[in-house]
Amino acid sequence: MNSFTTPGGNPGNYFDAGRERVFDSMAPRWDSMAPPAPPEKIRELIDIAGVEGKVVLDVGAGTGILVEAGLSAGAGRWIACDLSGEMLKVLEAKYNGKYRVDYFPAAGSPLLLLHADVHSLPLDPASVDRVICHNVFPHFQNPGVALTGLFRVLRPEGLLVINHFAGRELVNQVHRSAPHPILHADLLPPADEAAEMLRKAGFTVTGAVDSPQLYRLTAVRPAGGG
Ligand SMILES: C[S@@+](CC[C@H](N)C(=O)[O-])C[C@H]1O[C@@H](n2cnc3c(N)ncnc32)[C@H](O)[C@@H]1O
Repeated sequence: MNSFTTPGGNPGNYFDAGRERVFDSMAPRWDSMAPPAPPEKIRELIDIAGVEGKVVLDVGAGTGILVEAGLSAGAGRWIACDLSGEMLKVLEAKYNGKYRVDYFPAAGSPLLLLHADVHSLPLDPASVDRVICHNVFPHFQNPGVALTGLFRVLRPEGLLVINHFAGRELVNQVHRSAPHPILHADLLPPADEAAEMLRKAGFTVTGAVDSPQLYRLTAVRPAGGG
């Protein structure tokens, strides 16, 4: 699992063990270090994603701040994907008992944990209806490879949302001053640049907000595309 190739290398064999160690070290304290957004904002994001009855891929799920809202809104299956095994352990401890939780590739549970790097997803083509990337896009080391992979696993007409409940400047300031130098260059591009990356990966961009309070892109995999 922990093989590592450069972002330009074979995407089928990509796992960023360096970043995993950093996020693993933050996992036990994550919920106090980065308190979740207010519930109404989380609900708004879940509403925008339109998750009812859908298979949702939550990329960089961390300790699972979207999970409760997503499953309460009727998501058919929630796949919480994260590079950090320790983040997923915290998530599992939080929700096990309330929901049946399994590690991918077990398939019977509403909540599936997927320990994987977004650059190398072990999911079947066109197997998810929604992709949510909340507070994770700047950590993609090769956004082109990552977005192409997300396009591959998303069903035609499926929706992808990239979201931060903060403006780009603030997000970038936090990363530039992070205690772990590996995160210093994990920066959000202007939304028009991110939109161009999405188009190159095959998506139709349906919205782009890059304001001081919100960074959000929405994009659809066109019917019959790819
Ligand atoms: C800033 S945290 C956000 C966690 C959660 N979405 C939240 O808002 O609380 C970023 C998360 O993305 C994960 N991550 C970073 N790079 C990733 C990658 N290449 N593939 C999958 N997950 C990744 C990290 O392990 C971490 O849990």
